[in-house]
Amino acid sequence: MAAEEQPKFEHVNDRNLALELVRVTEAAALAASRWMGKGKKNESDGAAVEAMRKAFDTVEISGTVVIGEGEMDEAPMLYIGEKVGCGGPEMDIAVDPLEGTDLCAQGGPNALSVIAMAEKGTLLHAPDVYMQKIAVGCDLPEGVVDLDATVKNNLRNLAIARRCEISDLVACILDRPRHEELIAKTREAGARIMLISAGDVAAAIATARVDSGVDIYMGSGGAPEGVLAAAALRCRDGQMQGRLMFENQEQIDRARKMGITDPTHVFNIHEMAGGDVVFAATGITSGYMLHGVRRTAHGAQTHSVVTRSKSGTVRYIEAHHAWATKPEAHI
Ligand code: FBP
Repeated sequence: MAAEEQPKFEHVNDRNLALELVRVTEAAALAASRWMGKGKKNESDGAAVEAMRKAFDTVEISGTVVIGEGEMDEAPMLYIGEKVGCGGPEMDIAVDPLEGTDLCAQGGPNALSVIAMAEKGTLLHAPDVYMQKIAVGCDLPEGVVDLDATVKNNLRNLAIARRCEISDLVACILDRPRHEELIAKTREAGARIMLISAGDVAAAIATARVDSGVDIYMGSGGAPEGVLAAAALRCRDGQMQGRLMFENQEQIDRARKMGITDPTHVFNIHEMAGGDVVFAATGITSGYMLHGVRRTAHGAQTHSVVTRSKSGTVRYIEAHHAWATKPEAHI
């Protein structure tokens, strides 16, 4: 089908498409789960990438990977610019078949397989650099926190909006030497901190879940992960800002080629994930939002979430996969 003949996203059953994406994250999670806790992050990542790539073949979209496993010359599959799907509306696709490779390798919490999808041209083509991020959940006044405000002001404004004390708030921060000052300022302001070893997509999404115990996510992590988190938060009416952190001119030049003209720009959530967004994730190891894959002799159980910005529906899916032949047939 020629590109101009492709149906527009709003004309296709995007609700079904959302569920189809879950099959794709399930496939990646099932594959990665075979390596969980085995200390082999490359093997688990490779298995997830291969399974996700294969599962995309049956999804009725003409997708282009804008956030993926790297440039074409550095990644054999799901590289930036790769076309996925078996034909349909033109979509931007952001993937992380295994978000939290170390978490999976070590059996730690919150390893996920994730996909965000939106109409062509609406997901930020973020280069693989760090991004300074701040994220909060829903039901808060627009602009309650700001990347350029002080830590104390952000926490104070969030506490006022939540009608609580700063000491009631929990900030989630990646445990990294580069966050020493951020951690000190957060404690100085009186908030409590949940330090995590990895997995800031789950951490940012956790701000939108009351039962996660996380009120705000702050700090720097991967920019691709920032776009995925922004997509998830768009579907849940959360707020997020991000600024790319470049280490040298070469990185700035590369970003320019990807369409980022101002290296200091603070991206709002709509600039990172615009249009009608669909976000799907399957747990590989258990965490704030999802159970990890459970494998038995007869099959495996997966736990996924799928959300759409258009409806705001958050749908959890527990799937029981039977090994029809042998486990390998399902990954
Ligand atoms: P990987 O899945 O690529 O290992 O990323 C895990 C992660 O913790 C992300 O969630 C986060 O954005 C990034 O790494 C932080 O990077 P670093 O470990 O270099 O601080």
